[in-house]
Amino acid sequence: MAGKGPYSEKVMDHFQNPRNMGEMPDADGTGRVGNPTCGDLMEVYIKVNGDKLEDVKFKTFGCGAAVATSSMVTEMAKGLTLEEALKITKQDVADELGGLPPIKMHCSNLASDALHAAIKDYMEKKGGK
Ligand code: FES
Repeated sequence: MAGKGPYSEKVMDHFQNPRNMGEMPDADGTGRVGNPTCGDLMEVYIKVNGDKLEDVKFKTFGCGAAVATSSMVTEMAKGLTLEEALKITKQDVADELGGLPPIKMHCSNLASDALHAAIKDYMEKKGGK
């Protein structure tokens, strides 16, 4: 509870020092989602080993909250099985960050949606079509 501004310290930390930001040229799956509310874009890349997420990276053209939530989601997802990672919700991400201002909740949608899209992309490719 640092009473400064609408963002928790954790949000500010992830915003200022995003984890796992950047592209992954050899990704096993890529998820790309646009935010209908604000028009911002988010991409998440995953590297899969067995049924686990070995590495997760993101790139976003979104706002600060989008940067913080995607940074957090990559940290949360790494090491999880694909099934577990598919269960991460925007609420989990926001909770993990110590809460987000309600007006920014749609931004955390981007992060979890893009992660889920990347996993589905991987599964489709693996489905061998
Ligand atoms: Fe667009 Fe936050 S305002 S992602």
